[in-house]
Amino acid sequence: MTTNTPHINPNGVEIAPTVLLPGDPLRAKFIAETYLDNVKQFNEVRNMFGFTGEFNGTPVSVMGSGMGMPSIGIYSSELIKFYDVKKVIRVGSCGAMQKHVNLYDVIIGVSASHDSNFMSQYNLPGTWAPTASWKLTAAAIAEAEKQGANYHVGNILSSDIFYNEDDTVNDRWASMGVLGVEMESAALYAIAARHGVDALGIFTASDNLITGERTTAAERQTAFTSMMEIALPLAAI
Ligand code: HPA
Repeated sequence: MTTNTPHINPNGVEIAPTVLLPGDPLRAKFIAETYLDNVKQFNEVRNMFGFTGEFNGTPVSVMGSGMGMPSIGIYSSELIKFYDVKKVIRVGSCGAMQKHVNLYDVIIGVSASHDSNFMSQYNLPGTWAPTASWKLTAAAIAEAEKQGANYHVGNILSSDIFYNEDDTVNDRWASMGVLGVEMESAALYAIAARHGVDALGIFTASDNLITGERTTAAERQTAFTSMMEIALPLAAI
């Protein structure tokens, strides 16, 4: 195994074949402490904490991705190219873009539209469609069903812009049936596809950009639990 890369220095701690990627490194710490056994920290470079542990006996790592496609692009590329990671699963929040998506609902992002220049590096003669792994998507749907979660499966938007000058964009993406907006998954899906590994984004709706509803921090915790209970078993498939 590679000893270190520019942004990850595991100091001899193994990184599991499955890595969960919340945006916030302190969220990664919380996930490791709450859900995993035998936890060891494998990264602290730039405070982008990463941990490896076990979930029901299966090795799982969890690491912050940072916000945006450039940041998740760096971490997921190093994990896949240099640490042999085979499944990258983003767990995060998103802004819902449909009236029928309620706050706290889970969204499984089977495909990710985007407004980014990230894909230009692949120099394709058309527009490539960032798509999640079907194996992970099908397994996530099965878990969501098993748990009776309120969930939606569909297209999400990965945007480079959180504070958009153009306040009409949300309605236009929504008119195409986009379920919610976040800032990372299209890049994650592209990098995974390029390297033949599995990627998926699972989200909880933290706010609704169409109705203006917002969650409180305490309420978000419950929704977070549902998303994690769908994501964690995917390590074992
Ligand atoms: N935009 C981008 N990412 C998000 C949002 C949003 O409105 N809400 C939660 N994550």
